[in-house]
Amino acid sequence: MSKTITLKKPFDAHVHLRRGAMLRAVTPLTAAEFGRAIIMPNTEPPIETVEQAAEYKKEILAACGGLTSAESRNPQGDALRVSGFEPLMTLYLTKNLTPAEIEKGIAGDVCKISAVKSYPYGATTNSQWGYRSILEAANVLKKMEEVGMPLLLHGEVHLNEDDEEEDPYDGERLFITDVLPRLLDTYPKLKVSLEHLSSENAAAFIEKNGEAGRLVATVTPHHLLYGRHEAESNPLLKVKPLIKDEKSKNAVRALVAKGLPFVFAGTDSAPHPEAKKLSPTGAFGIFSAPAAVELYTQVFEELGALDKLENFLSVNGPRFYGLEPSSKTITLMKKDWQVTEPVVTDEGDKVWPICNTVHGSGSETIRWKIQN
Ligand code: DOR
Ligand code: ZN
Repeated sequence: MSKTITLKKPFDAHVHLRRGAMLRAVTPLTAAEFGRAIIMPNTEPPIETVEQAAEYKKEILAACGGLTSAESRNPQGDALRVSGFEPLMTLYLTKNLTPAEIEKGIAGDVCKISAVKSYPYGATTNSQWGYRSILEAANVLKKMEEVGMPLLLHGEVHLNEDDEEEDPYDGERLFITDVLPRLLDTYPKLKVSLEHLSSENAAAFIEKNGEAGRLVATVTPHHLLYGRHEAESNPLLKVKPLIKDEKSKNAVRALVAKGLPFVFAGTDSAPHPEAKKLSPTGAFGIFSAPAAVELYTQVFEELGALDKLENFLSVNGPRFYGLEPSSKTITLMKKDWQVTEPVVTDEGDKVWPICNTVHGSGSETIRWKIQN
């Protein structure tokens, strides 16, 4: 007999959709897996005003409404159900972002803003507009604390005080020990999410200090699935924060298996064209949208924690953002399948999803499949 799981429609608390042809190609894939998603603002140029967020939201909605049947297919050719996707918009914490913009974002007259994202200067894709240290943004952080606007952290120290690069395997640990405690002490009411938690140190810190509605963490499929050894030999697994050693992978897996109300899914699906991903300098970012829910399910099954899956995917995320879980559902079926093809944009760029059989070990099999 085939095994199925029905869940409230998942919530992706961290996704990159880009703009233009890339956005048109990847947005229906996220919309097929998730009912709502927190949309990252590190586009080029960045999203730093409510007007820009409103424009961006329109572009996203246009990409998952009015699809022809030919367009509403994943790379494997399966039809996708993409109706009713709700993008939740964010602003980039650049030096141009003002307390007044935070007020406009909370009011929502032009565009409701769900959170503000901080990138450490120089650490990753399009992070050149970020602060060197989050603590420099005092006026904006104060306003965010006052009005209840969540702060989403790319929690890595990238540069030291002399502007030299830290060891990228150590950046998250440095942030957790040197920066995060100071941030939490200075802004005791600020809602904070440590995004894409990837290390043993971060897992321990969040387990000890996490609190629903105050300090939460999101977890990606790739930090649950891979270790440093695999990541260093596969350019598709180049990502920030870097995929760390087995000890960290197992600590992140153990954290999600606990079923804590302040830990939830954020895919960090971040598409780049093949030419950029496979070039010698290789862009940071893993594209997981076409299989993210399936991969999380696979990990929770491996961990014997399927009873914790629905809260992780569909309940804890919306609760942090003050929203009810979705009233829609999805059903997953236990079924082996493989990703053998890239997504191709309408400008002809190929984008390779995580776990494909061409650029991985060649034997990646995904154990669950969403039924459309
Ligand atoms: O690997 C990453 N890619 N990490 C980020 O923080 C940004 C993302 C992207 O936008 O490509
Ligand atoms: Zn990201």
